[in-house]
Amino acid sequence: FLLQIAIVSSCFAQAPKEAATDYHLPEAMRTQSGKTVNSVAEWEKVRRPEILALFEKNVQGKTPVKAIPVRFVSMSVNPHAINGTATRKQVRIYFSSDEQHYMDLLLYLPNNRNKPVPVFLGLNFGGNQVVHRDTGIIISKQWVRYTSEPAYKDHLGTEASRGTQSDDWPVEKILAAGYGLATAYYGDLQPDSANSVNAGIAPLFYKKGQTEPAADEWGAIGVWAWGLSRALDYLETDKDIDAKKVAVVGHSRLGKTALWAGAQDRRFALVISNNSGEGGAAITRRKYGETIALMNKAFPHWFSGNFKKFNDKEDELPVDFHELIALIAPRPVYIASASKDQWADPVGEYLSGWYATPVYTLYGAKGLDTPVPPAVGQPVGEGAIGYHIREGEHAMTPYDWDQYIRFANRFLR
Ligand code: GCU
Repeated sequence: FLLQIAIVSSCFAQAPKEAATDYHLPEAMRTQSGKTVNSVAEWEKVRRPEILALFEKNVQGKTPVKAIPVRFVSMSVNPHAINGTATRKQVRIYFSSDEQHYMDLLLYLPNNRNKPVPVFLGLNFGGNQVVHRDTGIIISKQWVRYTSEPAYKDHLGTEASRGTQSDDWPVEKILAAGYGLATAYYGDLQPDSANSVNAGIAPLFYKKGQTEPAADEWGAIGVWAWGLSRALDYLETDKDIDAKKVAVVGHSRLGKTALWAGAQDRRFALVISNNSGEGGAAITRRKYGETIALMNKAFPHWFSGNFKKFNDKEDELPVDFHELIALIAPRPVYIASASKDQWADPVGEYLSGWYATPVYTLYGAKGLDTPVPPAVGQPVGEGAIGYHIREGEHAMTPYDWDQYIRFANRFLR
């Protein structure tokens, strides 16, 4: 833990305090051969696949195409959860027939429903039990980064961890708004620690003799995003859920993950990035706060091997992160920042929405109106791109959720 602090503070020490202004962004609407995109057909047939391939090759790494046997097993259903207001389901999603690899999906659905409900789906940081004090939630047996006792002991969640992140996941608020919540622990897919790739699901996809992903293959963010798509596969089978109305949401490294999941898997109806910063919504060429090099040094397992080639070479990266937002178009996307989270570059997070706007316009959807970010506490976006910067620290808070629900209501209710 002290080492973590040392790493993080040394990052802060080197973090750029002034944003670069002399950068040239790759144009979302210009193909690699220099042709301007004029139609949705050209975007979908030429430019979108180009951008997706560039992210795969250089940034997050390719998601394997190999299909593995995935199985859903209901572990429990409680129709009287949360004082009778909700149904709690727990579904184990097996990734291997030896049952050694699985992810537990926790679902809360409002009992006050008369049709299949829209759902927010997101990975959590501490195990499903951190989301709510509900003692019926299965405590994850997987390694957790946290060590702070009594909630964690020897990198495992304890009874005391129940509900410890309920501010990040205001279940009652979500249910009262008519949505379900689906969540899983990201460590079920791959431990969030360097050199742990073989402790996750990645080896299930290796070719004969392969011992680690190739330089252009996925890192942990890709693995976690893959898990979100498998959760969506389950949601498609559950008759209580409207799987055409699933919003994928994530905070921070899991915000980077939500964006990548939404970019690759067009079944996600809406995408929410909470304080995702570098490698998420932030424009990397601004070189403000965290940079590619700082992130790759502290978290070498998150992105592809190839991404390391761009350490301190942001301007050589063939994409920038407005194009990650553009991959989501025309589906609604919400980007959120926090005033004391300069490490994630709030302005850069806003600007990716602004620079993705032409792609939304191409579809006849509305993006952002101005390159000037709004003031703290003044959400913007009547169209398909929403943004706010909240007063306060790097976190996902009930205020953030109020904005997500308000935004989602326009598309999913
Ligand atoms: C670190 C890291 C960020 C990341 C964040 C988080 O601050 O540098 O890139 O988003 O952790 O996941 O909380």
